[in-house]
Amino acid sequence: MDKIVITGNKPLHGSIEVSGMKNAAVAIVFGTILAEDKCTIGNIPMISDISDAFDILTAVGAKIKRLDKTTYEIDTTNYTPCSAPYELVRKMRASYYILGAELGRFGRARAAYPGGCDIGARPIDQHIKGFKALGAEVDPPSSNSGGNINVTTEDGCLYGDSVYMDVVSVGATINIILAACRAKGTTVIESAAREPHVVDLANFLNACGANISGAGTDVIKIRGVEKLHGVHYDIIPDMIEAGTYMMAAAATKGDLTITNVIPKHLDAVTAKLQEMGVTVEEYDDAVRVSSVGCRIKGTYVKTAPYPGFPTDMNPQIGVLMSIAEGESVIREGVWDNRFKYVDELIRMGACIKNDTKSATFTGVSKLFGAPVSACDLRAGAAFIIAGLAAEGVTTIDNIQHIQRGYEDIVGKLRNVGACIELQNVPDDANVLSSKI
Ligand code: EPU
Repeated sequence: MDKIVITGNKPLHGSIEVSGMKNAAVAIVFGTILAEDKCTIGNIPMISDISDAFDILTAVGAKIKRLDKTTYEIDTTNYTPCSAPYELVRKMRASYYILGAELGRFGRARAAYPGGCDIGARPIDQHIKGFKALGAEVDPPSSNSGGNINVTTEDGCLYGDSVYMDVVSVGATINIILAACRAKGTTVIESAAREPHVVDLANFLNACGANISGAGTDVIKIRGVEKLHGVHYDIIPDMIEAGTYMMAAAATKGDLTITNVIPKHLDAVTAKLQEMGVTVEEYDDAVRVSSVGCRIKGTYVKTAPYPGFPTDMNPQIGVLMSIAEGESVIREGVWDNRFKYVDELIRMGACIKNDTKSATFTGVSKLFGAPVSACDLRAGAAFIIAGLAAEGVTTIDNIQHIQRGYEDIVGKLRNVGACIELQNVPDDANVLSSKI
C-alpha cells in the first residue's frame, strides 16, 4: 500500500524528460500481434499498463525480451488466439485492442470487457459497429461465454467497407484499423479520431507493411494487405505527461524545461497556459514553462477530441485554475464523470462548484496540504500538482492509478526540486491502524 508524500510550496526548476506515450504504446504493443514476427519497440514507458499488457501477451504465447532500458523485443509468432486470461484483461482499458488485432490476424477474437479509469460510461458500441461493418459476427458476453465478447467470421476473412463513427472514439478508431489491416479490400473510417497516438499506431503498422493513409485526419483509408512483418519502431513522447509537468511548473511558480516532446501536440495546452499569463517557449523537441513573477489569470476551457484541449488534462488544469486570479470554467466535452477530483481539491482549500459536465473555479491565493485519494489516473496526477503547490504536507493514496500512466513521476519531480517521496506503508500497519 504505497503512498506519495509531498511537502509543497517549492518552485520546480530544471529539466525533466518525458517518456514514451502510454496510449500509443498500449496500442502498438497489442498491434505487434498482427506482425506475426519479432518487433523491437523503443521509447516504451515503464508504467504498470505496459507491464500488464506484457503479462497478457506473454500469457498467450508471445515472447518478450528487454533489450535496453526502454526497448523491448516482442515476438508474436506463436500467439494463441482467443485465450487472453480474464483476470489480466480486466485490469486495463487498452486490452480491448486484442479484439481488433486477433480479428485482423486470425479472423476470430475473444476478450473480456476491459477495465481502466472510472471516468464515465465507456461503451464499445462503435468498436462493434466497425467489426460488423467488416463482416464479423459479434456476440456479447452470455451465459456460456465466461464474461467474454466473441467475434467470429464465417470464412475466416474480413472484408473492407465504410464505417461512419457516430462519436469520435480513439479506441474504436484504433480497433477498426487493427482489424482492417489484413482484410480483403479497402476500409474507410469516417469521423475517425485524429489523436497523435492514432497516427503513431498507423505509422507503426505501415512500417510493418500495412497500407494506411489519412491517419491524423478524420477520414482514414486502410487498404488490406496479405501479411505484415516485424520492424523496429520508436514510440512518440507522451503529450499528457508533458502537459502534466507544464501545469506543475506553472502551479509552483517554477521554471521547467520539458524535453523529449513534440511541441505541436501540446498546442492546446500551451495556448491555455499563455492565456493564463504563463510564459511558454517552444524548441524543436522541448518546451520551457515559466511562471516566475507571473500573475496567473483565470480562463475558460472546453475539452474535446484532438486537436481540442485534451480531456486527460482536465484535472491538471483544474489545479491551476484553483489558484488563478478570478473565475475559471472547465466544460467537459468527452467523459461524463471527469470531475471526481473536485471534492479532494476542495479539501485542499479550492473553491469549486461543479455538476457532471462543468466546473467553475473561484481562484484562492493558496492550497493547503491534506490527505487525498487518487480516484483515477489523471486525478492522481492533479493531486501531485496540487500537493507541490500547496502549503504543508499532502499524502496521496491509491497511487496504483498514477503508476498506470506516469513513469517514475516521483524521481523525475525530485530531480527538479520537489520535496516528494514514495512511502511504502506495509499492509500490516494498515490492518493495525484500522483496529485502533
Ligand atoms: N464512446 C462511445 N462508444 C464507443 C466508444 C466511445 O460512445 O464505442 C464514447 C465514450 O463514452 C466517450 C467518447 O466516446 O464519451 C470518447 O471515448 P474514446 O473511445 O475516445 O476513449 P477511449 O479510447 O476509451 C482513450 C484514452 C483515454 C482518453 C480518451 C479520450 C486510451 C487507452 N485511453 O480512451 O485516456 O481519455 O481516449 O481522449 O487510449 C488516460 O490516459 O487517462 C485516459 C483515460
